[in-house]
Amino acid sequence: MTATNETRRKVFLGLLGGAAGLAFGGGAAARVAVDEASKVFRLDGGAATYAFGVNAGGQVQTLYWGAALAASDQLPAAVLTEGNSSNEMPVSVSPYEFAGFGGGLTTEPALKVRFPDGVRDLDLRYVGHQDKGDRLILQLKDVQRAVHVALTYAMDEATGILARSAVVENRTGSWIQVDQMAAACLNLPYSDDYQLSFLSGRWAGEFTLQTRAITPGAFVLESRKGVTSHQVNPWIAISRAATGEEAGPVWFGALGWSGNWRISVEMDAMGGVHASAGYNPFDFNYRLKHGESLASPVLHAGFSNEGFGGASRIFHRYQREKILPHAPAPRLRPVLYNSWEATFFDVTEAGQLALAEKAAGIGVERFVVDDGWFGARNSDKQGLGDWVVSRKKFPNGLGPLVKRVNELGMQFGLWVEPEMVNPDSDLYRAHPDWVINFPGRQRSQARNQLVLNLARKDVCEHLLKVLDGLVASHNIAYLKWDHNRAWSEPGWPEAAPDEQQRLYVVYVDKLYQLLAELRRRHPKLEIESCASGGGRVDLGIMRLTEQVWTSDNTDPYDRLVIQDGYSHAYAPAAMMAWVTDSPNFVNKRETSLEYRFLSAMQGGLGIGANLNHWKDEDFSKARRLIGEYKLIRATVQLGNLYRLVSPRNGSPRSATLSVSQDRKQAVLFAFLHSSMMRSAQQTIQLRGLDADTVYALRAIAGAAAPGTVARASGAYWMGHGLKVILEGDFQAAAFVLQAAAHT
Ligand code: GLA
Repeated sequence: MTATNETRRKVFLGLLGGAAGLAFGGGAAARVAVDEASKVFRLDGGAATYAFGVNAGGQVQTLYWGAALAASDQLPAAVLTEGNSSNEMPVSVSPYEFAGFGGGLTTEPALKVRFPDGVRDLDLRYVGHQDKGDRLILQLKDVQRAVHVALTYAMDEATGILARSAVVENRTGSWIQVDQMAAACLNLPYSDDYQLSFLSGRWAGEFTLQTRAITPGAFVLESRKGVTSHQVNPWIAISRAATGEEAGPVWFGALGWSGNWRISVEMDAMGGVHASAGYNPFDFNYRLKHGESLASPVLHAGFSNEGFGGASRIFHRYQREKILPHAPAPRLRPVLYNSWEATFFDVTEAGQLALAEKAAGIGVERFVVDDGWFGARNSDKQGLGDWVVSRKKFPNGLGPLVKRVNELGMQFGLWVEPEMVNPDSDLYRAHPDWVINFPGRQRSQARNQLVLNLARKDVCEHLLKVLDGLVASHNIAYLKWDHNRAWSEPGWPEAAPDEQQRLYVVYVDKLYQLLAELRRRHPKLEIESCASGGGRVDLGIMRLTEQVWTSDNTDPYDRLVIQDGYSHAYAPAAMMAWVTDSPNFVNKRETSLEYRFLSAMQGGLGIGANLNHWKDEDFSKARRLIGEYKLIRATVQLGNLYRLVSPRNGSPRSATLSVSQDRKQAVLFAFLHSSMMRSAQQTIQLRGLDADTVYALRAIAGAAAPGTVARASGAYWMGHGLKVILEGDFQAAAFVLQAAAHT
């Protein structure tokens, strides 16, 4: 095991409760059953069963993944699938759990290596397994050479979500080079109506749900940007044509990796569907000396027979209970104020103090100073990297502001972008060699900045020292941790040429370690993952950050679509959403303050408006709605989400319902985006309530149709529904249903 991987394991062991982050701290692991005679391995959890077996040749194949089977069901042993001619070798049309490139494999390998003698054939066979109670470890080895692979399977009992990863270890006596490595391969049997869903986008337009038929050939989703990326997110769902929001099978997976990744979904010549997810093989190689090993990221995969809604509800639960900091009880998101859209770089002590007084007055709980507080940072052209409070803007340092913010009953938070540097900065002038670069080649800038090389020990030590000092010397409760550009010229000149491409792995490992160490030193510190909006949202970083920023686009209508897409993969518990000014800075759309609030109240609520421009009535409206939000936030953040009416594809309406875990409270948000054609008022049938409980209805904003009953059973609200009055463009209403009695 390399130092890097060893440290990665230790970090996860120490902070996350298990080796490679796979063993679960709280809650039970799923049932594991191993039939030694037939070599059938079976994991049961939630409403799912996953089974694989070892065939007569020692190859490991998926046997079943789907709805829970009866405990008494026996699965037939694994056998290679036959092709229909000599052109389709059995290994290429069989559902391998983790295939090496070799032995005639023509589909996507999970692992591809080269040896010093030029051999590039790797044929992995089962050599043993260990049942560790909370996880199963499968040992594979090449038929001839001492390349060992350990596959880890950890299934969560409550949700049936399986965390899979792999470690390759070189015991050959010489070096080997890993050219490609996945966490896992997922296999589904032939079907001619599979659909692939994924999330795509761009800056200010993240998390758009895309769906396409899975057809013969391969479809590749990836990031080559050094970071998770806005363009495609490492989450997929495979469904059947008839699958809907609340019914039908959905197989899904998300890769926990914040660097270059790839998911390939392939239909082989005989119609089998294989999805492999892991490091992006593009420009990848990782040389292992004898005795060294490389761990893959973790792929988290689940199954639901209850449509996309069912799939996302179990995935949200899994994230709350297994992934997010403080799992299984992630902390509620405080109401935040952030000054970015109000002031941009024009940050001053007096200006921030004035905003803080106003924010406290409406019930804000955390006050955050965004970009512009440090060095010579008056625009995005200079100062990045110099994490020293600007004495021009804060003559007495941050102390007086932090003190006042705390006196006002709020926590204090700060924006940082530690991984980056402006060439026009003291840091870069002192250490021009600290950035990712190829010697003698151009250093392409984006937003006038370059990427610091976190793979370098000195860079990490510097960042830890600076950030630790910053947090320790001020009462900082929260950091918004940004990453605002894609990588370019990804060189690491100080490393040996044949080790430089380790950068793709080591950088991300070091980033995770830096975050983990900072959290260890400051247990109360909370962190938000931001990358020009939603460019770094994945289950790797989300183990170390309480919250994520889904988009710089704060337009409340666009945001509904972004939030809808986000919620297919990620939990509302971590999703921040702000109320900002109208017209919105991104698209100039004008909307009412109430509409903006109701859009943002579906996640962790933030206020990003320029409060200096607000009128008295805006303050009183905001105070009231923030008060309402505090009464429902546990349900919104930690409850079960039902996407009742989708805002996608230009739908004129949308609605979501959040139901608390104990089903005592439900919160309905309903929107009319366009009153086009004066369409009829909509009756919305709720879901997820307890049919036998009487719920009292109360409007937070907007109104139900005249004559709507004040109290009725869950059966009534789910069957008869609730007619909401909305008229005009960009209108919104919200209601609370509170359990009052049993029927
Ligand atoms: C990025 C973030 C914004 C803001 C700016 C500051 O664009 O996504 O929210 O913090 O950086 O420069």
